[in-house]
Amino acid sequence: MTTAIVIGSQWGDEGKGKIIDLLSQDAQLTVRYSGGDNAGHSIVAGDRKIALRLIPSGILNPNAQCVIANGTVVNPTVLLAEMKELNDAGITTDHLVISQRAHVIFPYHILQDQQQELDRAQSGEKIGTTNKGIGPTYMDKMQRIGIRMIDLLDKAGLKKKLAFNLIQKQRVLSAELYEQLPSLDELTETYYAMGQQLKSQIKDTSTLINQAVDAAQHVLFEGSQGAMLDIDHGTYPFVTSANPTAGGACTGTGLGPTKINHVLGVAKAYVSRVGDGPFPTEQINEIGDTIRDIAHEYGTVTHRPRRIGWFDAVLMKYVTQINGFTGLVINCMDVMSGFKTLKICVGYQVGTEVIDYYPADDELLSQVTPVYEELPGWDEDITGVAGFDQLPVNAQNYLKRIAELTDTPIAAFSIGPDRSQTVQMQKIW
Ligand code: GDP
Ligand code: IMO
Ligand code: MG
Repeated sequence: MTTAIVIGSQWGDEGKGKIIDLLSQDAQLTVRYSGGDNAGHSIVAGDRKIALRLIPSGILNPNAQCVIANGTVVNPTVLLAEMKELNDAGITTDHLVISQRAHVIFPYHILQDQQQELDRAQSGEKIGTTNKGIGPTYMDKMQRIGIRMIDLLDKAGLKKKLAFNLIQKQRVLSAELYEQLPSLDELTETYYAMGQQLKSQIKDTSTLINQAVDAAQHVLFEGSQGAMLDIDHGTYPFVTSANPTAGGACTGTGLGPTKINHVLGVAKAYVSRVGDGPFPTEQINEIGDTIRDIAHEYGTVTHRPRRIGWFDAVLMKYVTQINGFTGLVINCMDVMSGFKTLKICVGYQVGTEVIDYYPADDELLSQVTPVYEELPGWDEDITGVAGFDQLPVNAQNYLKRIAELTDTPIAAFSIGPDRSQTVQMQKIW
């Protein structure tokens, strides 16, 4: 048995899709365990370039079954459109399976997301969500009024559940927004019809995953978002509504923690964040602009410009602790070429004190001054290197310092967006 979880270790968009695509070439199962179409995972393989939102990034390997597991939230309209887009490009989705237990995103969830963001904006507390209805769908799940994929297969039962939900939503949505909703009959017909389209692919995925693990297959768990967006451990309230962290891979799939072998933390060689919330090492200056331009740092889903900052080892140490990383994957090393010096944040100054832990208080976090260590940069184009030893010595030292500061080995690093531009240093399978 070999299992590996791949987790974003910053605020999302670390390049998880790229790593999953690579590792899934030798996997038998790739599983998405949290989030929904708030995610945008890019894959570049030769002249094929795709951005996935809900479908696991293992989809390009027709021999690796792909699972959208119970911890996710599924917008069936988006899922069917994404499947069609792939099929039109000649990529099969016949090997895709969706959990019976995954919760469904309905139009009222998206309206609720919109309404809450507008209300929050008035009080200056906007989260900057992706507006896909993610938070409200997880809220309904926890409130035990959610509707699951299995419910789409029973028309009468679905109508009953929707009728109850519409009463609830009429209480929380403004009249103006509520009026935008389709009628109960329309909602029932539309979602039942989508259920019928997906019927053969809606299954008990926990059993399927456990069977694959018991059969000693290579099983890959694809994190979405990032550890700092985790509802429990991230920069609350500027987080998503799920657990992208390692524990979420167990609850989100129905696989026990004793069955996990590798936990890989993916990070960029710098940090990016899209959406609001504290970001201690953010560079609102020429450095940030340069990195954004070189790396085309604009959101895959919302196309918003991403906020950019120096690599934060305080954050990384915290994230390593809450996930138990067995290795780090450092992406976008190529983007750092050409800087005279590179900075790594090694502590946060609060008044006269320097702390090296991640504070829970978001007010405090937004006031800390990063303490930086400076490392000499490199000028060489590294996009073609095939091994650690081929990197300029300063690039080697940059990676070594990250490993040292986080007490975690570098499992891989990457030097360009293409699948081939990744150097693996740790054997996963
Ligand atoms: P994900 O959400 O974690 O899968 O990441 P995204 O796909 O949203 O964003 C990562 C971006 O960085 C994508 O545009 C990738 O193609 C790109 N990328 C990944 N690794 C590298 C790398 O090593 N170098 C460069 N230049 N770009 C990379
Ligand atoms: P991937 O998987 C980056 C951010 C949003 C917002 C917050 C809450 O591509 O790394 P939500 O819509 O989830 O309620 O928004 O989380 N966010 C992401 N940022 N990458 C993502 O996914 C994200 N998914 C959500 O910008 O700040
Ligand atoms: Mg992304």
